[in-house]
Amino acid sequence: MKIRKSLFPAAGYGTRFLPATKSIPKEMLPVLDKPLIHYGVAECIEAGLDEVNIILGRGKGAIEDYFDKNYELETEIAHKPKKVKLLESVNSVIASGTFTFRRQGAMLGLGDAILKAQSMIGDEPFGVVLADDICDTEGDSVMKQMVEVYEKYQCSVVAIMEVPKDKTESYGVISGSEEEEGVFKVSEMVEKPKPEEAPTNLAIIGRYILTPDVFPILEQTEAGAGGEVQITDALNVLAKAGKVVAYKFKGKRFDCGSVDGYVEAINHFYGR
Ligand code: G1P
Repeated sequence: MKIRKSLFPAAGYGTRFLPATKSIPKEMLPVLDKPLIHYGVAECIEAGLDEVNIILGRGKGAIEDYFDKNYELETEIAHKPKKVKLLESVNSVIASGTFTFRRQGAMLGLGDAILKAQSMIGDEPFGVVLADDICDTEGDSVMKQMVEVYEKYQCSVVAIMEVPKDKTESYGVISGSEEEEGVFKVSEMVEKPKPEEAPTNLAIIGRYILTPDVFPILEQTEAGAGGEVQITDALNVLAKAGKVVAYKFKGKRFDCGSVDGYVEAINHFYGR
């Protein structure tokens, strides 16, 4: 089945970026002239996932406004072609996608945010993007690469990268057998393991393609690492049934949820 839908869990407080995120959604922090979430949404639309679903929380209204026309602003700048041009990138995203928003309510973790999207997603596979992970690639975007992997394996796909062994506690970590170069059949997934407990150094980044059979599992998934409902724990159930592959994507990922990764991303994209 063709993947049409993307999901952006964007309800979190973004506490790693306080005080900026006290009054600005972290997804709206700019990397050069565009907010973080713009990059992920444009990536999905380019990969054919043009039905964009965004899970929000209190104080996240700026995200809805960003993906909506602003007629007043456009009228004000209509006679200034250079300024009109600056809006082109977002207007083309708005014109190419359809946008649906819903609130998470209680923030019980990433797995809970994904479960709250069940009514928007229905019974079809969908992409998930954590907007603070920005990826840059030479060719196809990471989501486009993952769609190809999904089309071949017809099961859930998580994007992975190698991290230093002492950093596993910041990630979900997988183990499995390499089926072909860069594609692993996952046998186990652990959320935020201590280095001595991590099965490998293959860490999940904020790009997933999920099949809808994850929803009933999420309904049964109890709070795990950090006291939150973890998508990693639900996917571990599918992995044990041989229904998850991990894909070592081609490209570079920036963790813009941290100040270091954010600065690195800005320098990288400025140099392009
Ligand atoms: C989330 C996921 C984790 C993944 C990470 C990637 O964690 O739970 O499995 O490795 O995103 O950025 P978070 O960074 O939200 O704590």
